[in-house]
Amino acid sequence: MSTSPIPFILDCDPGHDDALAIMLATASPEVELLGVTTVAGNTLMENATRNALIVLDMVNRPDIPVHSGSARPLVRELRTAASMHGDGGLDGPVPAAPSRSANSTDALGFIENILSSATQPVTLVATGPLTNMAKVVTDLGHLHHMIKELVFMGGAIGLGNWTPAAEFNILVDPEAADIVMNSNLTKTMIGLEVTHEAWLDDSHANELRGTGACGDFVAELLDHFVGFHQDRFGWQGAPIHDAVTIAHLIDPTLVTTIFTNVTIETESELTVGRTVVDVYSVTEKPANTHVGTHIDRDRFVTLLMSRLATLS
Ligand code: BDR
Ligand code: CA
Repeated sequence: MSTSPIPFILDCDPGHDDALAIMLATASPEVELLGVTTVAGNTLMENATRNALIVLDMVNRPDIPVHSGSARPLVRELRTAASMHGDGGLDGPVPAAPSRSANSTDALGFIENILSSATQPVTLVATGPLTNMAKVVTDLGHLHHMIKELVFMGGAIGLGNWTPAAEFNILVDPEAADIVMNSNLTKTMIGLEVTHEAWLDDSHANELRGTGACGDFVAELLDHFVGFHQDRFGWQGAPIHDAVTIAHLIDPTLVTTIFTNVTIETESELTVGRTVVDVYSVTEKPANTHVGTHIDRDRFVTLLMSRLATLS
């Protein structure tokens, strides 16, 4: 039985794994990428926007609109992940300059237009800090009924990856994450428990290398990203964090979730950005988020690699 593709907007900060999320989405008939909005996070907003345009050129989809959004977190100074992704956000490949500019600098206006004109609720996927998504919560309340759900990569039940307590996307803009978590949107959190299981290594880079322009591009992205994780953490491979959000849309049986309360720490210097997940329901706080706990890695890798192969 064929079903119509899930329409969604991707809010991202490319970023190696954001780039792979875009590529997986454009290679997958189960989902329809209506547009890309960008946010400052891994790199400055101009770089994130440029990188999104480069990736869409690479997959030959110049028809997908790109709108840039928040250039800084709601209240804090921006901290980037240049040590992981490079100063430009996408170290490794040396692609041609993008063939076009962003459609606008008004990501929120774009999201508003899509939601207002949609004939069915639209999914939002966020793979960077939640700054733009917080603005959707505060400024687009009249359109929340047109948001099917928000799936975001961010947070962790346990340890963080940027401080011992916090994962990068939530750490960069904890006030935004707090607004999102307190909203009535239906939310799915794809945190580090899930994404650290979703890794690729050198063998995957080598499998795609030489298979065409996209294959070479992915291989060079992985050379950098896997190499960073090998050097920095001593891991065999690199978690492809952001692509898991798209894989979850494509096949909701891949990720196991629990429905519980998630609260964001915004005050403590030591643990700011921590996603406090009430796994054992020890508080009276209402469940507000479907939290990923595990992914079937073999099926994830098969899905991702087979779809990337179709792009070459
Ligand atoms: C998240 O942080 C970024 O560096 C990645 O793109 C991903 O979205 C993982 O913590
Ligand atoms: Ca990201």
